[in-house]
Amino acid sequence: MRVLVTGGAGYIGSHTLIELMAQGHAVCVLDNYKNATPAVLQRVRALSNGTMTDYAGDVRDGAMLDKVMTTFKPDAVVHFAGLKAVGESAEKPLDYYDVNVGGTLAVLQAMDRAGCRRIIFSSSATVYGEPVYLPYDEDHPTRPTSVYGQTKLAAEHILTGWTKANPDAAAVILRYFNPVGAHHSARIGEDPRDTPNNLMPFIAQVAIGKRDALTIFGDDYDTPDGTGLRDYIHVVDLARAHVAALDYAARTNGAGIFNIGTGQSYSVRDMVSAFSRACGRDIAVKVASRRAGDIAAMQADASRARHAMGWTATHTLEDMTASTWAWQSANPNGYQTETDTSKITP
Ligand code: WQD
Repeated sequence: MRVLVTGGAGYIGSHTLIELMAQGHAVCVLDNYKNATPAVLQRVRALSNGTMTDYAGDVRDGAMLDKVMTTFKPDAVVHFAGLKAVGESAEKPLDYYDVNVGGTLAVLQAMDRAGCRRIIFSSSATVYGEPVYLPYDEDHPTRPTSVYGQTKLAAEHILTGWTKANPDAAAVILRYFNPVGAHHSARIGEDPRDTPNNLMPFIAQVAIGKRDALTIFGDDYDTPDGTGLRDYIHVVDLARAHVAALDYAARTNGAGIFNIGTGQSYSVRDMVSAFSRACGRDIAVKVASRRAGDIAAMQADASRARHAMGWTATHTLEDMTASTWAWQSANPNGYQTETDTSKITP
């Protein structure tokens, strides 16, 4: 298939490009490089034999989308482009609605103009909110507690409405749990611009000596060791879920919602121990109070994705930590070329 990938230079997008090309799909990237660098695409090209074109542009720009649609003529769109920081979404709610909801609307409108009828959408397990039961299945109530989560849920509703109005259309909504890890080549990985919000890149920066210690946000949760439990999923498994979703969208119409996780959960302390084993170094930690908005535990029931799309996660916790460490140690400053590893002042 010919696949337009919005946000293709980002962390999950870049890994997905590699898996799509490995399966013979031709890809075209549209990215505004607001939270990514074009250097990613050079590395993706070096790792793939497939066909890839790219455009610098914003998903809210209808004229740009029309240009890409008429030139590339995609059979399907994988729509990653969006803003993803939970804390920031409370400070800039209009930006989050504009990019995440407005961007999705603009992509669908351009698809309508071009007659493109298949879309895969990056959603998040955060749409569920406080668990009523665990593991979450896709029928769990959706009550997101952040603006970020609300924008993802609003975009899901738009996609569902679009498929109802267009019986020949397919939208596959993937609710990601906690993506971690890096490509086995150690050439692409997660490269946060500022202080990492997420656990794994923060631990990796402590291991490489850029930060003194990990702050554990609360060890008084009702969990076995008191720290938060999450369903961490290797980014390559997640990337492959998009390939499976495209195959599924090619043979089904309507909207499908799928959890993308492993079905297992690990605590913050489990992640620190596993990372320490992977890098052979101690990871300094200090315990602070809970982070506002965090919940004690999250875990996916990923059986629907297995039954309907034939997708299942195969990477282990060791794969997640070892690949993160390989990426972090080979690229101490991410995609920046210089090799200065001096400490970042918080
Ligand atoms: C994991 C665990 C923290 C950092 C968020 C978004 C979600 C998705 C993924 C999407 C929790 C603890 C973390 C630190 C810590 N984003 N932690 N110290 O919060 O599950 O999910 O990212 O696009 O929508 O909500 O992920 O990696 O931030 O936290 O103790 O410095 O690690 O409290 O228990 P989270 P996370």
